[in-house]
Amino acid sequence: MNPSRDEQPDSQARSDYEAVGGGPAIAAVVDLFYQLVLDDDRLRGYFDGVEMVRLKRHQVALISQVMGGPVAYAGRDLRAAHEGMAISREDFGAVADHLVTALTEAGVEPAIIDRVVTVIAGTEPDIVEAHPAA
Ligand code: HEM
Repeated sequence: MNPSRDEQPDSQARSDYEAVGGGPAIAAVVDLFYQLVLDDDRLRGYFDGVEMVRLKRHQVALISQVMGGPVAYAGRDLRAAHEGMAISREDFGAVADHLVTALTEAGVEPAIIDRVVTVIAGTEPDIVEAHPAA
């Protein structure tokens, strides 16, 4: 018998947040994610002088919220946070790929990765502002 499970009504499905192991698991994903981003020559420069502890804290909150966890992202609006950086579609794709790699390495199941990536892909219009000349 699992007492904590008894407290949950059957109608309440387990969130993706719980399924992956909650806050500690997501913190590990985010650590690996920024390791990959900072190791990437195309991306490293954007993060010069950025306070990574705070950034990781906000990223953990955002991903926790996306996964249906009991956490509300309280960082800046994503458009405001990335404004003026001239982030290209290629940069965005590279960062998104690193997030998929980090989630995969952590053993997160593909269906959950798909759901997270779908939400993250939807933020592209807020983050990308460098458009190649037509
Ligand atoms: C893939 C989708 C992305 C998501 C979900 C995302 C999410 C975030 C979040 C939650 C923050 C923290 C905002 C705050 O502290 O208030 C942040 C900051 C930042 N992001 Fe992103 N980001 C994404 C893509 C990118 C890309 C493509 C780049 C650059 C190539 C980038 C560069 C940065 C930098 C440099 C900061 C720090 C800004 C600062 O503290 O002044 N992000 N991002």
